Amino acid sequence: MNTFAPSSQKIVILTGAGISKESGLDTFRCADGIWARVRLEDVATPEAFCRNPALVHQFYNARRGALTDPAIVPNAAHLALARLEREWPDDVLIVTQNIDDLHERAGSRNLIHMHGELKKVRCQRCGALLDWFEDLTTGDACPSCRGEGQLRPHVVWFGEMPLEIERIYAALEQCGMFLSIGTSGNVYPAAGFVRHVRSFTDAHAVELNLEPTAGASLFAETIYGPATVSVPSFVDRLLADAGCVRG
Ligand code: APR
Repeated sequence: MNTFAPSSQKIVILTGAGISKESGLDTFRCADGIWARVRLEDVATPEAFCRNPALVHQFYNARRGALTDPAIVPNAAHLALARLEREWPDDVLIVTQNIDDLHERAGSRNLIHMHGELKKVRCQRCGALLDWFEDLTTGDACPSCRGEGQLRPHVVWFGEMPLEIERIYAALEQCGMFLSIGTSGNVYPAAGFVRHVRSFTDAHAVELNLEPTAGASLFAETIYGPATVSVPSFVDRLLADAGCVRG
């Protein structure tokens, strides 16, 4: 591994659908991905929700329901990142594009869901943010304001602003290491995070993915292969190099 001596030891980790693939959840842009089966314009934009809310609810209900499948559990990559957060001597922040709950279930705590969460819904009328584990329909009333048909998935759609973007940029500007794991780097602003890190810090940037992405040349180090192999191995080396032997 390239030795790195950045001015900070804080780590920011961007994850995408690829880290959850080996847990049994689909990616978006692989050959068998979600956007190969469903048009994002029909289910993942504010206009789609206005046009046909029932279809949008059906799309997210199916994905929320998948998370209750006992076979869908955090994999070795999620668990390795949770271990890194526990054992690393400085901050470790995961910024995930994923709306599943596998990072939390693996034990990660310092976590931002920049594209929202499947297990939360939001009232368009009163702004209430609610935990929600079953199907959502147009007939459901907001438990807070009683408004009917006002609840929507707490998911960031195309054309909407990602969540906590100021906090994310502040962390990127203070990190000493930036990891990009299981993301194709197709969707901004996440796809631009590596450039932001390079322009503001001397951080060591690493891409860990199944295969090189279009932004691969922007990374000081690249590691390719399944996340359940590359991520635990990388975390082991990182902790060993920092002298953080398992307690
Ligand atoms: N291990 C590591 N990487 C993998 C694995 C694996 N087992 N399987 C697939 N990948 C990689 C693919 O090579 C691909 O580069 O994961 C990446 C997944 O890319 P996308 O499907 O584009 O998913 P993502 O980058 O998370 O998409 C970003 O786009 O549609 C929107 O909001 C949605 O959050 C999503 C955003």
